[in-house]
Amino acid sequence: ADTLGSAAAGQGRYFGTAVAANHLGESAYAATLDREFTSVTPENEMKWDAVEGNRDTFTFGAADQIVNHARSQGMDVRGHTLVWHSQLPSWVSGLGAADLRTAMNNHINRVMGHYKGQIHSWDVVNEAFQDGGSGARRSSPFQDKLGDGFIEEAFRTARAADPAAKLCYNDYNTDGVNAKSNAVYAMVKDFKSRGVPIDCVGLQSHFNGASPVPADYRANLQRFADLGVDVQITELDIEGSGTAQADNYANVVKACLAVDRCTGITVWGVTDKYSWRSSGTPLLFDGNYNEKPAYDAVLSAL
Ligand code: XIL
Repeated sequence: ADTLGSAAAGQGRYFGTAVAANHLGESAYAATLDREFTSVTPENEMKWDAVEGNRDTFTFGAADQIVNHARSQGMDVRGHTLVWHSQLPSWVSGLGAADLRTAMNNHINRVMGHYKGQIHSWDVVNEAFQDGGSGARRSSPFQDKLGDGFIEEAFRTARAADPAAKLCYNDYNTDGVNAKSNAVYAMVKDFKSRGVPIDCVGLQSHFNGASPVPADYRANLQRFADLGVDVQITELDIEGSGTAQADNYANVVKACLAVDRCTGITVWGVTDKYSWRSSGTPLLFDGNYNEKPAYDAVLSAL
């Protein structure tokens, strides 16, 4: 196979990228996207501030652009994300508990309802755990006002809103075995034992010098899979360049392929030109859409 998507398909996986609607009009961007990738994740366009900036007024224009583009190309779409403390409008943070619960469930119902049947997997809840050794929940309007049960409630609402979508919990710094991933693991185990609907765990996998690809990455993917959920690498980017970066990318791909339930990989952007790491070069195509050594390494690992 000579593209990321076709090589991954040969392994029964998808290969996706984050996409920004405002770049779809750039011909090299769209050509690279359409040639190489079989799944897209809207980088910002489905976040709460983008789709419900004002209460009960939903604006899907930019997200629709991405979904329509993906569908016209036969690509899968990952929905990102329904309940997250960041990119959250201030009207949400200002609500009291009862109102916040209503607003959260309404948001899930309306957004998932709009895309019903069109989303492969949804990141239902994003980044609900703290960094560091505590294993505690992160403070957020949802956590602080609704308590631990908000995640379970969000997943139950999501299952009813679009029964065809896989429902994922997504987080970062949960890529290796550590206190934070242990806490997510315990939650997923509890959900599975009590029949709370959850289908997948997303490992964002933003790697850099301070946070390299962990040696126990594969083992961590495997232990989640062994709980009976799929695992997806959802926001992969790796700082660096040349051979070192290429080797790290290859290791991530090999770890996923070694785990049956690792169903796909998404990189967090098409080109270094538009990476959220503005000063970095963490992706597979350089700023001129040339294939980097990391691209070759991924293709040969697939
Ligand atoms: C980032 C986007 O890439 C940026 O454009 C935006 O300014 C901030 O959010 N974890 C996530 C993603 O789940 O939604 C974030 O995306 C990166 C970290």
